Amino acid sequence: MKRPKRSLPAAKLRRGRIGDIDDLILLEQHFLAADQLSRRSFRHFVSAPKSTLIVAEANGKVAGCALVLYRQGSERARLYTIAVASEFRRRGLARRLLKAVEKDARRRGCLFMRLEVRADDPGAITLYETSGYYFFARRRRYYAGRIDALRFEKPLGAKAKRLATHNPT
Ligand SMILES: CC(C)(COP(=O)(O)OP(=O)(O)OC[C@H]1O[C@@H](n2cnc3c(N)ncnc32)[C@H](O)[C@@H]1OP(=O)(O)O)[C@@H](O)C(=O)NCCC(=O)NCCS
Repeated sequence: MKRPKRSLPAAKLRRGRIGDIDDLILLEQHFLAADQLSRRSFRHFVSAPKSTLIVAEANGKVAGCALVLYRQGSERARLYTIAVASEFRRRGLARRLLKAVEKDARRRGCLFMRLEVRADDPGAITLYETSGYYFFARRRRYYAGRIDALRFEKPLGAKAKRLATHNPT
């Protein structure tokens, strides 16, 4: 029998700010990320013009975040990290965060969103595969010199979809 879905928390999505950094560090410590972000990096990404940090706030605290990086002149945005606190998982927050960063990337004129995910993380892989991302390459032993990274990409509009079918890499 299908498990009934827990109701979506009344989470508000907004841009990250300096005052979120303690919460963001705590959030990161809840899971083993390959490249945990330092306080200094968060401070940089909150205000840097080439990145967008979106935070999901629920009950006055940070329930999740997504960070996307941009490169000058590139039509590809890179989802650097996405995370949701364990008590808020499986309620659609990561999907909302993904949509928010995709919208930001479109607004900045990007045609594609790219990301890497650990090959041993079926939950995150399912999230991406069911959100319009397709696998296009593998990076061997990318995480801690042991775990492969799977590279995914999503075309962010009709023009990008036409390009993607001809040139996936
Ligand atoms: C991966 C992560 C961001 C998902 O966050 P979330 O808010 O729970 O995801 P959502 O509720 O939006 O899930 C959307 C869909 O993704 C898939 N999914 C997410 N987590 C899953 C899991 N643990 N197992 C299987 N499928 C999963 C499901 O298809 C889900 O839809 P459903 O709940 O209707 O079945 C969260 O588990 C997390 O922070 N993990 C640790 C950090 C991490 O691994 N980040 C990814 C780095 S690339």
